[in-house]
Amino acid sequence: MQRSERERFLNQYSKVLWLTGLSGSGKTAIAKRLERKLFEHGFFTQVLDGDNIRNGINNNLGFSLEDRMENIRRIAEISKLYLDSGVIVLASFISPTAEIRALAKKIIGAEDFIEVYINTPLEVCEARDTKGLYQKARRGEIKDFSGISSPYEAPLRPSIEIKTTEVSIGEAVNIIFQYLEPLITYKKN
Ligand code: ADX
Repeated sequence: MQRSERERFLNQYSKVLWLTGLSGSGKTAIAKRLERKLFEHGFFTQVLDGDNIRNGINNNLGFSLEDRMENIRRIAEISKLYLDSGVIVLASFISPTAEIRALAKKIIGAEDFIEVYINTPLEVCEARDTKGLYQKARRGEIKDFSGISSPYEAPLRPSIEIKTTEVSIGEAVNIIFQYLEPLITYKKN
């Protein structure tokens, strides 16, 4: 079976939306709200995030750059399977370096890979500290923490950049939806 047959069946074109940003930047919150909006508009999606990936298939991986690379490699391969199934993927991972994101883009294919930079300054993520991890990282209780003791390289030319200090989650969802909708809307010929 061809991807194109599945896309026709699902009445949509599949894409991978790749959300990168620091821990606590709001990636997953935006991905989940966006998924709901897409669903209401008749689009069939799957969110991939730490909850369903790092707790499952990747539960043997840590946070060294090597393990992060392997984490992202597997996620990109999984995303590609969904892509071939005609499903729109919303992947929400720190994916901290340009090299790691380039690997994801290569596996998925540049034409189907949409990079979204969820730009929330470190100070803001740290002040929110929703999971209490920044405090632990500062105390040295967690090592290799992105932005503190491990690098985060901001994307240079993302398809979309969301500055969460300037827009609400709802506005961010609308911005991404407007970009995505024409790319995933099926055209009958
Ligand atoms: S990635 O770098 O490999 O892309 P991923 O997005 O899967 O990271 O996981 C990040 C999540 O794991 C964070 O949001 C946080 O909840 C948790 N976490 C635990 N330890 C770390 C760490 N050392 N650095 C960053 N995040 C960590």
